Amino acid sequence: RKSYQHMDLRHHVRDIPDYPKPGILFRDITPLLAHPDALNASVDEMAKPFLDQKIDVVAAAEARGFIFGTPLAMRLDAGFVPIRKPGKLPFDLHSFAYELEYGTDELQIHVDGIKPGQRVLIVDDLLATGGTVEACLRLLEKCDAEIVGCSFLIHLVALGGEARLSPYHVHSVLDYG
Ligand code: PRP
Ligand code: ADE
Repeated sequence: RKSYQHMDLRHHVRDIPDYPKPGILFRDITPLLAHPDALNASVDEMAKPFLDQKIDVVAAAEARGFIFGTPLAMRLDAGFVPIRKPGKLPFDLHSFAYELEYGTDELQIHVDGIKPGQRVLIVDDLLATGGTVEACLRLLEKCDAEIVGCSFLIHLVALGGEARLSPYHVHSVLDYG
């Protein structure tokens, strides 16, 4: 495989205005996912600050979190624990309901997905308002996880999501103003 040290991953993110609603600029990562070197470089860059952090488990929420969560777990020699929408996980659960712009949503994790004290990294493709990953943090706190930080490919800085994840360490590869 040729070196991808200096590739600009931004060239592989496509901007779609007014999707899924007027006024939203959607950052579409499907071109990046389809490009072997861009995909590999993205996983490397998301993992880099955590290589020496003795991560036991990567946790991620469906659906786009799963795309990066599993390869990051493999890169970090960690396990993978899924966080899912209601009605998808079969065993005993922790649940956390949270506010969306309209209505509420809920995420769930298996009660035995993470053992107390295990070192966990949360992964998602993109940080916007922070609602999704804040819900993940609350679930992991219920599991008495040792939360090492959160890793994102894309951070939409203007939406202020990072403040909701305080005091945890937030790493992002591509920051958009
Ligand atoms: C997207 C994205 C993040 C979340 C970020 O997921 O994958 O999980 O939004 O937004 P937030 O910081 O405001 O919570 P989406 O809910 O669109 O679901 P998907 O992963 O199933 O596409
Ligand atoms: N998830 C939340 N906001 C988003 C955006 N602007 N682009 C892509 N995914 C998103």
